[in-house]
Amino acid sequence: MTRALVLAAGKGTRMKSALPKVLHPLCGEPMLAHVLRALRGAGIGDVTVVCSPELHERLGELGAPAPRAVIQEPQLGTGHAVQVALAELPPAAGPLLICSGDMPLVTGEVLRGALAALAAHDGGTGRAACALVTVRMPLPSNFGRIVRDRDGRVRAIVEVRDATPEQLALQEMNAAIYAFDEPLLRAVLPRLSNANAQREYYLTDAVALCVAEGHAVLPVVCEDPRLTMGINDRVELAAARRIMNAQLCERWMREGVTIEDPQTTYLESGVELARDVTLLHNTSLRGRTRIGEGTTVGPDSELVDAVVGANCAVRRSEVVESTLGENVRVGPFARLRPGTVLEDGVHVGNYVEVKKSRLGKGTKANHLTYLGDAQIGANVNIGAGTITCNYDGTNKLATTIGDGAFIGTNSSLVAPISIGAGALTGAGAVVIRDVAPGQRVVGNPARPLRDESKA
Ligand code: UD1
Ligand code: CA
Repeated sequence: MTRALVLAAGKGTRMKSALPKVLHPLCGEPMLAHVLRALRGAGIGDVTVVCSPELHERLGELGAPAPRAVIQEPQLGTGHAVQVALAELPPAAGPLLICSGDMPLVTGEVLRGALAALAAHDGGTGRAACALVTVRMPLPSNFGRIVRDRDGRVRAIVEVRDATPEQLALQEMNAAIYAFDEPLLRAVLPRLSNANAQREYYLTDAVALCVAEGHAVLPVVCEDPRLTMGINDRVELAAARRIMNAQLCERWMREGVTIEDPQTTYLESGVELARDVTLLHNTSLRGRTRIGEGTTVGPDSELVDAVVGANCAVRRSEVVESTLGENVRVGPFARLRPGTVLEDGVHVGNYVEVKKSRLGKGTKANHLTYLGDAQIGANVNIGAGTITCNYDGTNKLATTIGDGAFIGTNSSLVAPISIGAGALTGAGAVVIRDVAPGQRVVGNPARPLRDESKA
Protein backbone atom coordinates (compact mmCIF):
# COMPACT_ATOMS: atom_id res chain seq x y z
CA MET A 1 0.00 0.00 0.00
CA THR A 2 1.34 3.46 -0.87
CA ARG A 3 2.26 5.44 2.20
CA ALA A 4 1.91 9.15 2.73
CA LEU A 5 3.18 11.71 5.22
CA VAL A 6 1.26 14.91 5.82
CA LEU A 7 3.38 17.63 7.38
CA ALA A 8 1.21 19.60 9.77
CA ALA A 9 3.28 20.30 12.88
CA GLY A 10 4.41 23.80 11.93
CA LYS A 11 3.65 26.61 14.34
CA GLY A 12 1.53 28.44 11.81
CA THR A 13 2.81 31.69 13.33
CA ARG A 14 1.43 33.75 10.49
CA MET A 15 -2.16 32.78 11.37
CA LYS A 16 -1.74 34.49 14.78
CA SER A 17 -4.16 32.03 16.30
CA ALA A 18 -4.66 29.76 19.30
CA LEU A 19 -6.06 27.18 16.87
CA PRO A 20 -3.46 25.03 15.06
CA LYS A 21 -3.24 26.32 11.48
CA VAL A 22 -4.42 23.16 9.73
CA LEU A 23 -7.60 23.07 11.85
CA HIS A 24 -8.81 26.42 10.54
CA PRO A 25 -11.97 25.61 8.61
CA LEU A 26 -12.93 26.40 5.09
CA CYS A 27 -16.26 25.42 3.58
CA GLY A 28 -17.23 23.50 6.69
CA GLU A 29 -14.14 21.39 7.30
CA PRO A 30 -10.65 21.96 8.66
CA MET A 31 -7.91 22.45 6.07
CA LEU A 32 -6.37 19.15 7.06
CA ALA A 33 -9.63 17.24 6.47
CA HIS A 34 -9.65 18.48 2.87
CA VAL A 35 -6.08 17.23 2.41
CA LEU A 36 -6.94 13.83 3.92
CA ARG A 37 -9.91 13.58 1.53
CA ALA A 38 -7.60 14.23 -1.44
CA LEU A 39 -5.27 11.47 -0.20
CA ARG A 40 -8.21 9.05 -0.01
CA GLY A 41 -9.18 10.20 -3.50
CA ALA A 42 -5.70 9.27 -4.67
CA GLY A 43 -6.22 5.79 -3.24
CA ILE A 44 -3.64 6.28 -0.48
CA GLY A 45 -4.82 4.42 2.59
CA ASP A 46 -1.76 4.53 4.83
CA VAL A 47 -1.44 8.12 6.02
CA THR A 48 0.67 9.52 8.86
CA VAL A 49 0.19 13.10 10.00
CA VAL A 50 3.15 14.86 11.59
CA CYS A 51 1.61 16.87 14.42
CA SER A 52 2.54 19.37 17.08
CA PRO A 53 1.35 18.30 20.55
CA GLU A 54 -1.46 20.88 20.29
CA LEU A 55 -2.67 19.49 16.98
CA HIS A 56 -2.33 15.93 18.22
CA GLU A 57 -4.71 16.66 21.06
CA ARG A 58 -7.37 17.90 18.67
CA LEU A 59 -7.01 15.40 15.82
CA GLY A 60 -10.30 13.84 16.94
CA GLU A 61 -12.07 16.92 15.56
CA LEU A 62 -11.37 15.60 12.08
CA GLY A 63 -13.88 12.81 12.66
CA ALA A 64 -13.32 9.09 12.46
CA PRO A 65 -11.19 7.39 11.51
CA ALA A 66 -8.44 9.51 13.00
CA PRO A 67 -5.22 9.23 10.94
CA ARG A 68 -2.02 7.85 12.41
CA ALA A 69 -0.06 10.63 14.09
CA VAL A 70 3.57 11.26 14.91
CA ILE A 71 4.44 14.13 17.23
CA GLN A 72 7.24 16.48 16.23
CA GLU A 73 8.42 18.60 19.15
CA PRO A 74 10.20 20.93 18.80
CA GLN A 75 9.46 21.81 15.17
CA LEU A 76 12.79 22.32 13.44
CA GLY A 77 11.60 22.44 9.84
CA THR A 78 9.95 20.31 7.18
CA GLY A 79 13.04 18.09 6.80
CA HIS A 80 13.11 17.51 10.54
CA ALA A 81 9.40 16.63 10.42
CA VAL A 82 10.16 13.87 7.92
CA GLN A 83 13.14 12.66 9.95
CA VAL A 84 10.94 12.35 13.03
CA ALA A 85 8.19 10.53 11.14
CA LEU A 86 10.47 8.07 9.37
CA ALA A 87 12.23 7.27 12.64
CA GLU A 88 8.86 5.94 13.85
CA LEU A 89 7.74 4.14 10.71
CA PRO A 90 9.27 0.80 9.73
CA PRO A 91 11.27 1.16 6.51
CA ALA A 92 9.48 0.16 3.32
CA ALA A 93 10.77 -0.24 -0.21
CA GLY A 94 8.06 1.57 -2.14
CA PRO A 95 7.19 5.18 -2.89
CA LEU A 96 6.43 7.64 -0.10
CA LEU A 97 4.17 10.57 -0.86
CA ILE A 98 4.80 13.71 1.17
CA CYS A 99 2.56 16.75 1.19
CA SER A 100 1.57 19.53 3.60
CA GLY A 101 -1.54 19.90 5.70
CA ASP A 102 -1.90 23.51 4.59
CA MET A 103 -2.92 22.90 0.95
CA PRO A 104 -6.69 22.33 1.20
CA LEU A 105 -7.37 22.76 -2.52
CA VAL A 106 -5.13 19.89 -3.57
CA THR A 107 -6.86 17.09 -5.48
CA GLY A 108 -6.32 13.34 -5.57
CA GLU A 109 -5.37 13.74 -9.21
CA VAL A 110 -2.45 16.07 -8.44
CA LEU A 111 -1.17 13.68 -5.75
CA ARG A 112 -1.53 10.70 -8.07
CA GLY A 113 0.40 12.62 -10.75
CA ALA A 114 3.53 12.70 -8.59
CA LEU A 115 3.29 8.98 -7.77
CA ALA A 116 2.67 8.10 -11.41
CA ALA A 117 5.71 10.08 -12.59
CA LEU A 118 7.97 8.30 -10.10
CA ALA A 119 6.53 4.90 -11.09
CA ALA A 120 6.86 5.64 -14.80
CA HIS A 121 10.55 6.62 -14.66
CA ASP A 122 12.41 4.25 -16.97
CA GLY A 123 15.82 4.55 -15.36
CA GLY A 124 17.44 6.10 -18.43
CA THR A 125 18.78 9.01 -16.38
CA GLY A 126 19.61 6.90 -13.34
CA ARG A 127 17.34 5.80 -10.50
CA ALA A 128 14.77 8.46 -9.70
CA ALA A 129 14.80 9.59 -6.08
CA CYS A 130 11.78 11.82 -6.31
CA ALA A 131 9.01 13.26 -8.44
CA LEU A 132 7.86 16.67 -7.30
CA VAL A 133 4.98 18.87 -8.31
CA THR A 134 5.96 22.29 -9.64
CA VAL A 135 3.75 25.19 -10.47
CA ARG A 136 4.14 28.47 -12.39
CA MET A 137 3.01 31.42 -10.36
CA PRO A 138 3.10 35.17 -10.74
CA LEU A 139 5.80 36.99 -8.77
CA PRO A 140 6.28 37.86 -6.02
CA SER A 141 5.69 34.52 -4.34
CA ASN A 142 6.77 32.91 -1.06
CA PHE A 143 7.12 29.49 -2.63
CA GLY A 144 10.53 27.87 -2.96
CA ARG A 145 12.04 28.22 -6.42
CA ILE A 146 12.88 25.26 -8.66
CA VAL A 147 16.42 25.52 -9.97
CA ARG A 148 17.01 23.61 -13.20
CA ASP A 149 20.25 23.16 -15.15
CA ARG A 150 20.79 24.03 -18.81
CA ASP A 151 19.36 20.68 -19.83
CA GLY A 152 16.19 21.32 -17.88
CA ARG A 153 17.00 18.84 -15.11
CA VAL A 154 15.99 19.80 -11.58
CA ARG A 155 19.08 20.55 -9.47
CA ALA A 156 17.71 22.06 -6.28
CA ILE A 157 14.93 23.93 -4.53
CA VAL A 158 15.85 27.29 -3.03
CA GLU A 159 13.72 28.90 -0.35
CA VAL A 160 12.83 32.55 -0.88
CA ARG A 161 14.79 33.76 2.13
CA ASP A 162 17.92 32.00 0.88
CA ALA A 163 17.56 32.86 -2.81
CA THR A 164 19.79 35.09 -4.91
CA PRO A 165 18.06 37.83 -6.96
CA GLU A 166 18.42 35.64 -10.06
CA GLN A 167 16.79 32.71 -8.29
CA LEU A 168 14.01 34.95 -6.97
CA ALA A 169 13.16 35.81 -10.58
CA LEU A 170 12.47 32.14 -11.37
CA GLN A 171 8.79 31.48 -11.86
CA GLU A 172 8.68 27.73 -11.40
CA MET A 173 7.82 26.99 -7.79
CA ASN A 174 7.83 24.05 -5.41
CA ALA A 175 4.27 22.99 -4.60
CA ALA A 176 5.55 20.86 -1.68
CA ILE A 177 4.09 17.61 -3.05
CA TYR A 178 6.72 14.92 -3.42
CA ALA A 179 6.75 11.23 -4.30
CA PHE A 180 10.04 9.94 -2.90
CA ASP A 181 11.70 6.61 -3.33
CA GLU A 182 11.70 5.90 0.38
CA PRO A 183 15.07 4.11 0.71
CA LEU A 184 16.82 6.89 -1.26
CA LEU A 185 15.16 9.54 0.88
CA ARG A 186 16.17 7.75 4.08
CA ALA A 187 19.75 7.67 2.78
CA VAL A 188 20.03 11.46 2.41
CA LEU A 189 17.84 12.64 5.32
CA PRO A 190 20.58 12.48 7.99
CA ARG A 191 22.65 14.90 5.90
CA LEU A 192 20.18 17.83 5.97
CA SER A 193 21.66 20.91 7.59
CA ASN A 194 20.08 23.98 9.12
CA ALA A 195 22.68 26.39 7.79
CA ASN A 196 20.12 28.69 6.18
CA ALA A 197 18.24 31.91 6.80
CA GLN A 198 15.56 30.26 8.97
CA ARG A 199 17.92 27.89 10.86
CA GLU A 200 15.60 25.05 9.86
CA TYR A 201 16.10 21.59 8.41
CA TYR A 202 14.43 21.94 5.02
CA LEU A 203 12.95 18.92 3.28
CA THR A 204 13.58 20.83 0.08
CA ASP A 205 17.34 20.36 0.57
CA ALA A 206 16.85 16.60 0.12
CA VAL A 207 16.41 17.33 -3.58
CA ALA A 208 19.94 18.68 -4.11
CA LEU A 209 21.35 15.85 -1.97
CA CYS A 210 19.61 13.25 -4.16
CA VAL A 211 20.88 14.98 -7.30
CA ALA A 212 24.43 14.97 -5.88
CA GLU A 213 24.08 11.18 -5.42
CA GLY A 214 23.41 10.93 -9.16
CA HIS A 215 19.69 10.27 -8.85
CA ALA A 216 17.08 11.88 -11.06
CA VAL A 217 14.49 14.30 -9.67
CA LEU A 218 11.40 14.46 -11.88
CA PRO A 219 9.36 17.66 -12.12
CA VAL A 220 5.61 17.21 -12.61
CA VAL A 221 4.13 20.52 -13.73
CA CYS A 222 0.67 21.31 -12.33
CA GLU A 223 -1.13 23.66 -14.70
CA ASP A 224 -3.52 25.12 -12.12
CA PRO A 225 -1.63 27.00 -9.36
CA ARG A 226 -4.84 27.29 -7.34
CA LEU A 227 -4.79 23.57 -6.56
CA THR A 228 -1.46 23.75 -4.79
CA MET A 229 -2.03 26.98 -2.92
CA GLY A 230 -0.44 26.92 0.54
CA ILE A 231 -2.30 28.66 3.36
CA ASN A 232 -0.05 30.55 5.74
CA ASP A 233 -2.22 33.43 6.93
CA ARG A 234 -5.88 34.43 7.04
CA VAL A 235 -5.69 36.40 3.83
CA GLU A 236 -4.66 33.25 1.98
CA LEU A 237 -7.30 31.30 3.90
CA ALA A 238 -10.00 33.68 2.65
CA ALA A 239 -8.68 33.40 -0.91
CA ALA A 240 -8.73 29.59 -0.73
CA ARG A 241 -12.23 29.61 0.75
CA ARG A 242 -13.42 31.75 -2.10
CA ILE A 243 -11.97 29.36 -4.65
CA MET A 244 -13.40 26.31 -2.93
CA ASN A 245 -16.79 27.99 -2.61
CA ALA A 246 -16.76 28.83 -6.31
CA GLN A 247 -15.91 25.19 -7.07
CA LEU A 248 -18.84 24.00 -4.93
CA CYS A 249 -21.24 26.47 -6.55
CA GLU A 250 -20.07 25.40 -9.99
CA ARG A 251 -20.49 21.73 -9.15
CA TRP A 252 -24.08 22.22 -7.97
CA MET A 253 -25.01 24.44 -10.89
CA ARG A 254 -23.85 21.62 -13.17
CA GLU A 255 -26.11 19.29 -11.18
CA GLY A 256 -29.13 21.43 -11.97
CA VAL A 257 -29.21 24.01 -9.18
CA THR A 258 -29.88 27.66 -10.02
CA ILE A 259 -27.58 29.97 -8.09
CA GLU A 260 -28.64 33.53 -8.68
CA ASP A 261 -25.44 35.07 -7.33
CA PRO A 262 -22.55 32.65 -6.68
CA GLN A 263 -20.49 35.54 -5.29
CA THR A 264 -22.76 35.83 -2.24
CA THR A 265 -23.78 32.20 -1.93
CA TYR A 266 -21.78 30.16 0.60
CA LEU A 267 -21.83 26.40 0.44
CA GLU A 268 -20.07 23.84 2.58
CA SER A 269 -18.79 20.55 1.32
CA GLY A 270 -21.33 18.43 3.24
CA VAL A 271 -24.35 20.11 1.60
CA GLU A 272 -26.61 18.17 -0.79
CA LEU A 273 -28.96 19.83 -3.25
CA ALA A 274 -31.60 18.29 -5.52
CA ARG A 275 -32.15 19.52 -9.04
CA ASP A 276 -34.21 22.64 -9.62
CA VAL A 277 -33.28 24.04 -6.25
CA THR A 278 -32.94 27.83 -6.51
CA LEU A 279 -30.59 29.74 -4.24
CA LEU A 280 -31.08 33.49 -4.11
CA HIS A 281 -28.41 36.00 -3.10
CA ASN A 282 -26.80 36.10 0.34
CA THR A 283 -27.58 32.52 1.21
CA SER A 284 -25.36 30.25 3.32
CA LEU A 285 -25.93 26.52 3.43
CA ARG A 286 -23.81 24.84 6.05
CA GLY A 287 -23.06 21.47 7.59
CA ARG A 288 -25.15 18.54 6.40
CA THR A 289 -27.95 20.67 4.97
CA ARG A 290 -30.07 18.88 2.35
CA ILE A 291 -32.55 20.66 0.08
CA GLY A 292 -35.26 18.93 -1.96
CA GLU A 293 -36.26 19.39 -5.56
CA GLY A 294 -37.90 22.64 -6.60
CA THR A 295 -37.24 24.45 -3.32
CA THR A 296 -36.14 28.09 -3.24
CA VAL A 297 -33.88 29.37 -0.47
CA GLY A 298 -33.02 33.01 0.02
CA PRO A 299 -32.41 35.80 -0.26
CA ASP A 300 -30.55 36.47 3.00
CA SER A 301 -30.91 33.07 4.60
CA GLU A 302 -28.70 30.76 6.59
CA LEU A 303 -29.39 27.05 6.95
CA VAL A 304 -27.26 24.86 9.19
CA ASP A 305 -27.75 21.09 9.28
CA ALA A 306 -31.26 21.57 7.93
CA VAL A 307 -33.27 19.04 5.95
CA VAL A 308 -35.77 20.70 3.63
CA GLY A 309 -38.21 18.80 1.43
CA ALA A 310 -39.39 19.52 -2.09
CA ASN A 311 -41.11 22.68 -3.30
CA CYS A 312 -40.53 24.73 -0.17
CA ALA A 313 -39.66 28.41 0.09
CA VAL A 314 -37.37 29.76 2.80
CA ARG A 315 -37.01 33.53 2.60
CA ARG A 316 -34.77 35.80 4.69
CA SER A 317 -34.64 33.29 7.53
CA GLU A 318 -32.40 31.22 9.75
CA VAL A 319 -32.93 27.46 10.00
CA VAL A 320 -30.75 25.36 12.30
CA GLU A 321 -30.97 21.58 12.86
CA SER A 322 -34.55 21.49 11.69
CA THR A 323 -36.55 19.29 9.34
CA LEU A 324 -39.10 20.62 6.85
CA GLY A 325 -41.49 18.49 4.80
CA GLU A 326 -42.79 19.41 1.35
CA ASN A 327 -44.51 22.65 0.32
CA VAL A 328 -43.44 24.39 3.50
CA ARG A 329 -43.16 28.20 3.54
CA VAL A 330 -40.82 29.92 5.96
CA GLY A 331 -40.21 33.63 6.41
CA PRO A 332 -39.45 36.31 5.71
CA PHE A 333 -37.69 36.83 9.06
CA ALA A 334 -38.38 33.50 10.71
CA ARG A 335 -36.04 31.68 13.05
CA LEU A 336 -36.20 27.91 13.27
CA ARG A 337 -34.03 26.62 16.08
CA PRO A 338 -32.78 23.08 16.71
CA GLY A 339 -35.40 20.37 16.96
CA THR A 340 -38.04 22.04 14.82
CA VAL A 341 -40.09 19.79 12.56
CA LEU A 342 -42.49 21.38 10.07
CA GLU A 343 -44.68 18.84 8.30
CA ASP A 344 -45.98 19.21 4.75
CA GLY A 345 -47.71 22.45 3.90
CA VAL A 346 -46.82 24.30 7.10
CA HIS A 347 -46.48 28.10 6.90
CA VAL A 348 -44.24 29.95 9.35
CA GLY A 349 -44.24 33.65 8.67
CA ASN A 350 -42.50 36.82 9.74
CA TYR A 351 -41.09 37.21 13.25
CA VAL A 352 -41.91 33.67 14.21
CA GLU A 353 -39.45 31.69 16.32
CA VAL A 354 -39.82 27.94 16.69
CA LYS A 355 -37.72 25.71 18.95
CA LYS A 356 -37.92 21.95 19.62
CA SER A 357 -41.45 21.83 18.29
CA ARG A 358 -43.42 19.88 15.72
CA LEU A 359 -46.08 21.57 13.59
CA GLY A 360 -48.44 19.12 11.87
CA LYS A 361 -49.57 19.17 8.27
CA GLY A 362 -51.07 22.40 7.04
CA THR A 363 -50.62 24.28 10.33
CA LYS A 364 -50.00 28.00 10.05
CA ALA A 365 -48.17 30.42 12.33
CA ASN A 366 -47.88 33.44 10.15
CA HIS A 367 -46.95 36.36 12.39
CA LEU A 368 -45.06 37.36 15.56
CA THR A 369 -45.06 34.12 17.51
CA TYR A 370 -42.86 32.00 19.77
CA LEU A 371 -43.40 28.25 19.81
CA GLY A 372 -41.08 26.27 22.08
CA ASP A 373 -41.33 22.66 23.29
CA ALA A 374 -44.69 22.33 21.55
CA GLN A 375 -46.36 19.43 19.78
CA ILE A 376 -48.93 20.93 17.47
CA GLY A 377 -51.33 18.89 15.35
CA ALA A 378 -52.50 19.35 11.78
CA ASN A 379 -54.39 22.36 10.38
CA VAL A 380 -53.97 24.44 13.50
CA ASN A 381 -54.17 28.21 13.16
CA ILE A 382 -51.76 30.01 15.45
CA GLY A 383 -52.84 33.63 15.67
CA ALA A 384 -50.49 36.58 15.56
CA GLY A 385 -48.68 37.19 18.84
CA THR A 386 -49.19 33.70 20.27
CA ILE A 387 -46.58 32.75 22.84
CA THR A 388 -45.92 29.38 24.40
CA CYS A 389 -44.83 30.35 27.91
CA ASN A 390 -42.57 27.32 28.19
CA TYR A 391 -40.19 28.43 30.91
CA ASP A 392 -41.10 28.82 34.56
CA GLY A 393 -37.70 30.13 35.55
CA THR A 394 -36.32 26.64 36.18
CA ASN A 395 -37.78 24.13 33.76
CA LYS A 396 -38.76 23.99 30.11
CA LEU A 397 -42.36 22.78 29.94
CA ALA A 398 -44.38 21.24 27.13
CA THR A 399 -47.41 22.45 25.19
CA THR A 400 -49.65 20.22 23.09
CA ILE A 401 -52.27 21.48 20.68
CA GLY A 402 -54.68 19.11 18.92
CA ASP A 403 -55.65 19.04 15.25
CA GLY A 404 -57.74 21.88 13.91
CA ALA A 405 -57.45 24.07 17.03
CA PHE A 406 -57.71 27.84 16.63
CA ILE A 407 -55.37 29.86 18.80
CA GLY A 408 -56.56 33.46 18.91
CA THR A 409 -54.41 36.51 18.43
CA ASN A 410 -52.11 37.29 21.34
CA SER A 411 -52.81 34.09 23.26
CA SER A 412 -50.37 33.18 26.02
CA LEU A 413 -50.27 29.42 26.53
CA VAL A 414 -48.79 28.80 29.97
CA ALA A 415 -47.05 25.41 29.91
CA PRO A 416 -47.41 22.63 30.84
CA ILE A 417 -50.68 22.75 28.98
CA SER A 418 -52.77 20.80 26.55
CA ILE A 419 -55.27 22.28 24.15
CA GLY A 420 -57.65 19.77 22.62
CA ALA A 421 -58.48 19.21 18.97
CA GLY A 422 -60.84 21.77 17.54
CA ALA A 423 -60.56 23.97 20.65
CA LEU A 424 -60.44 27.77 20.44
CA THR A 425 -58.72 30.43 22.50
CA GLY A 426 -59.98 33.98 22.26
CA ALA A 427 -57.88 37.00 21.44
CA GLY A 428 -55.66 37.92 24.38
CA ALA A 429 -56.42 34.71 26.30
CA VAL A 430 -53.98 33.75 29.03
CA VAL A 431 -54.48 30.01 29.11
CA ILE A 432 -53.35 28.40 32.35
CA ARG A 433 -55.54 25.25 32.42
CA ASP A 434 -55.97 22.48 29.88
CA VAL A 435 -58.64 23.09 27.27
CA ALA A 436 -60.86 20.15 26.29
CA PRO A 437 -61.39 19.20 22.66
CA GLY A 438 -63.84 21.55 21.01
CA GLN A 439 -63.93 23.86 24.03
CA ARG A 440 -63.68 27.64 23.64
CA VAL A 441 -61.87 29.71 26.27
CA VAL A 442 -61.43 33.46 26.65
CA GLY A 443 -59.97 36.00 29.03
CA ASN A 444 -57.26 36.24 31.67
CA PRO A 445 -57.07 33.71 33.16
CA ALA A 446 -58.89 31.97 30.32
CA ARG A 447 -62.27 30.40 31.16
CA PRO A 448 -64.72 28.50 29.03
CA LEU A 449 -67.43 30.66 27.44
CA ARG A 450 -70.46 30.70 29.79
CA ASP A 451 -72.85 28.66 27.63
CA GLU A 452 -70.21 25.98 27.22
CA SER A 453 -69.26 25.85 30.92
CA LYS A 454 -72.92 25.09 31.72
CA ALA A 455 -73.00 22.22 29.25
C1 UD1 B 1 7.16 25.07 2.06
C2 UD1 B 1 8.39 24.69 1.22
C3 UD1 B 1 8.44 25.58 -0.02
C4 UD1 B 1 7.15 25.44 -0.80
C5 UD1 B 1 5.95 25.74 0.08
C6 UD1 B 1 4.67 25.41 -0.67
C7 UD1 B 1 10.13 23.93 2.76
C8 UD1 B 1 11.38 24.32 3.47
N1 UD1 B 1 9.58 24.88 1.99
O1 UD1 B 1 7.36 26.40 2.50
O2 UD1 B 1 9.52 25.22 -0.84
O3 UD1 B 1 7.16 26.29 -1.91
O4 UD1 B 1 5.98 24.92 1.28
O5 UD1 B 1 3.54 25.61 0.11
O6 UD1 B 1 9.68 22.80 2.90
N2 UD1 B 1 5.87 21.74 9.14
C9 UD1 B 1 6.09 20.72 10.05
N3 UD1 B 1 7.17 20.82 10.88
C10 UD1 B 1 8.03 21.86 10.84
C11 UD1 B 1 7.81 22.89 9.91
C12 UD1 B 1 6.70 22.79 9.05
O7 UD1 B 1 5.34 19.75 10.12
O8 UD1 B 1 8.98 21.86 11.64
C13 UD1 B 1 4.68 21.65 8.26
C14 UD1 B 1 3.76 22.84 8.39
O9 UD1 B 1 2.77 22.58 9.37
C15 UD1 B 1 3.17 22.98 7.01
C16 UD1 B 1 4.21 22.36 6.10
O10 UD1 B 1 5.10 21.63 6.92
O11 UD1 B 1 1.95 22.27 6.87
C17 UD1 B 1 4.98 23.43 5.33
O12 UD1 B 1 5.59 24.32 6.27
P1 UD1 B 1 5.53 25.89 6.05
O13 UD1 B 1 6.22 26.54 7.17
O14 UD1 B 1 4.17 26.31 5.73
O15 UD1 B 1 6.46 25.98 4.76
P2 UD1 B 1 6.48 27.12 3.67
O16 UD1 B 1 7.28 28.26 4.18
O17 UD1 B 1 5.13 27.40 3.21
CA1 CA C 1 3.10 26.71 3.76
